[in-house]
Amino acid sequence: MASYSPLLLCTLLILLIFSAAAAAVSPAIADSCTAGSPTENSTPLVSFLQRVQSAARASANPKSFDPKSYVDLPLKHDLKVTESAFDDLPRVPGAAVHGVVPYFYMREFLKKYFGKPGDDLVYVEPKDYSPEPEGFLPKVKNHKVRVWALEVHSLWKNLSRRVSDDVKERPDRHTLLPLPEPVIIPGSRFKEVYYWDSYWIVRGLLVSKMYDTAKSIVSNLLWLVDTYGHPLNGARVYYTNRSQPPLLSSMVMEIYTKTGDLEFVKKSLPALLKEHSFWTSGVHKVMIRDLQGRKHSLSRYYAKWNSPRPESATIDEDSASSLPSPDDKKVFYREVASAAETGWDFSSRWMRNSSVITTLSTTLIIPVDLNAYLYKVELDIAFFAKKLGHRHTYENYLKSSKARQSAMRSILWNKEMNQWLDYWLNSDDCQDVHQFEAKNQNANIYVSNFIPMWNWKHASGEDEDRSPILRSFEVSGLIQPAGISTSLLNSGQQWDLPNGWAPLQHMIIEGLSNSGSETGSLLAEKIAVSWIRTNYAAYKTTGAMHEKYNVESCGKVGGGGEYVPQTGFGWSNGVLLALLEEYGWPSEKEIGCH
Ligand SMILES: *[C@@H]1O[C@H](CO)[C@@H](O)[C@H](O)[C@H]1NC(C)=O
Ligand SMILES: *[C@@H]1O[C@H](CO)[C@@H](O)[C@H](O)[C@H]1NC(C)=O
Ligand SMILES: *[C@@H]1O[C@H](CO)[C@@H](O)[C@H](O)[C@H]1NC(C)=O
Repeated sequence: MASYSPLLLCTLLILLIFSAAAAAVSPAIADSCTAGSPTENSTPLVSFLQRVQSAARASANPKSFDPKSYVDLPLKHDLKVTESAFDDLPRVPGAAVHGVVPYFYMREFLKKYFGKPGDDLVYVEPKDYSPEPEGFLPKVKNHKVRVWALEVHSLWKNLSRRVSDDVKERPDRHTLLPLPEPVIIPGSRFKEVYYWDSYWIVRGLLVSKMYDTAKSIVSNLLWLVDTYGHPLNGARVYYTNRSQPPLLSSMVMEIYTKTGDLEFVKKSLPALLKEHSFWTSGVHKVMIRDLQGRKHSLSRYYAKWNSPRPESATIDEDSASSLPSPDDKKVFYREVASAAETGWDFSSRWMRNSSVITTLSTTLIIPVDLNAYLYKVELDIAFFAKKLGHRHTYENYLKSSKARQSAMRSILWNKEMNQWLDYWLNSDDCQDVHQFEAKNQNANIYVSNFIPMWNWKHASGEDEDRSPILRSFEVSGLIQPAGISTSLLNSGQQWDLPNGWAPLQHMIIEGLSNSGSETGSLLAEKIAVSWIRTNYAAYKTTGAMHEKYNVESCGKVGGGGEYVPQTGFGWSNGVLLALLEEYGWPSEKEIGCH
């Protein structure tokens, strides 16, 4: 007994609690087989704000209507008071179920009873910010690039907030969650913390030597895990039933690598174990038998939600209007919320027919990237456990990582194409163990087919020949003049051609540069340089960093999707700073498109 540390006991306890929880949720697996699974209600506040959203759309100018801004409204009075004022508004006959509130009354009501979206976060000066940190980007020698990099660095101040006292005192009047520490938001309409965005924000903060701010971002996510059992899609009440790509362990790893702070690792480990259980049990776990009869366990995205996404409810209801039955609508709503959980909302990748949104089938897909991230989570946990002297945890997670690697080889790897492919389950989803069929691999080209390269930094390459993968990537068509495209299909969705997203550039660049081959390193640098150029050119013409770029030509920003393109922008800033730290910019090299 003496050899067990308190933390190990704690870990065991968490694992025990979790296996109990996993047993308790197993009926939910059957849930995915039956269209008529129960609709759970949102909180009373979210339901009410959705009614306001819907009424506002009926009375407002549809062109500038953003449904999210209504569920983000902070209440000035109690819900009861606000609700009865809303119910008392005059209504005239119209398309809406209860009649249309004339625009004038709606505007007055919004003004009188609500603060502005975003009021519940207040500006806070980051304590560890300095205008030019010591040792900042030593390899950036070019004057123009340096000035620009310092401007982007200064944007951390613009994006820095803390939760207002009113949210802590009256949480029932806010959909914003009372995160304990200061935050960095992505920007524009995204006024709250997002999960996977935070990884690249942390990467940038580390370049900016803002170690405390980076740690506070992770501490907030740990708080979410403590409170809800997993990191949420974002820090709003209406995001409680979905997560996002699991990159918390990667944030802890980056911070540990830069600071050597083992106490911080110790504090984080229980949450990492909890998150791992979340993705490897219940509805997220998929068992599949390969052609040799070996059983494997992989993971999928699956939001526990079968109503319209509150932040886009009017859009989802419109999309679902073509579906015949309430049960079909519920299934569709789950697929939409699950697509939001993937971080790629939306993409032809999750659709049976790329022009029909109701063919979203997210929960029937075993995604390459999710499993690559979880493989890294397992390696990260093993690494931390070893550092902390938790031998059993170390051995268990190393074993899990090997099992996942072999599952990915058997189910997701395609040896003709030399890339990993998403696997589509047969729509009959009620089997305990699925049977692998080669035809169910999705042979369309997405960046995600190459995301496992990101793990080349951490995993030894003994068991794979990387050069065919590099060649396959080079000829994939994904490499465009201004970066890497998300896919080869222009569907009008934002996670498709011609959009390139900073996080995807960065993971691929890091993968290539750790390939151990000269070809890979050169390609990585070439892509990094074209991405830096396009960021610079767009910054000069628009004065902002963008959430996505059009990679078909240098200097163009992205479009498509369900909302207007956003600026700010957390992860783009983070990736730019990380790339400039890695590759630098010589003084004589011109910047901008050429
Ligand atoms: C969200 O998940 C929790 C816990 O699994 C569940 O109790 C609740 O009903 C879910 N909410 C919705 C709206 O589905
Ligand atoms: C950043 O904040 C400063 C000070 O509030 C403001 O002047 C500047 O316009 C902001 N820049 C951007 C890009 O938002
Ligand atoms: C996709 O849907 C469109 C619109 O309904 C239809 O015209 C097209 O034939 C469908 N494509 C496939 C491959 O089914």
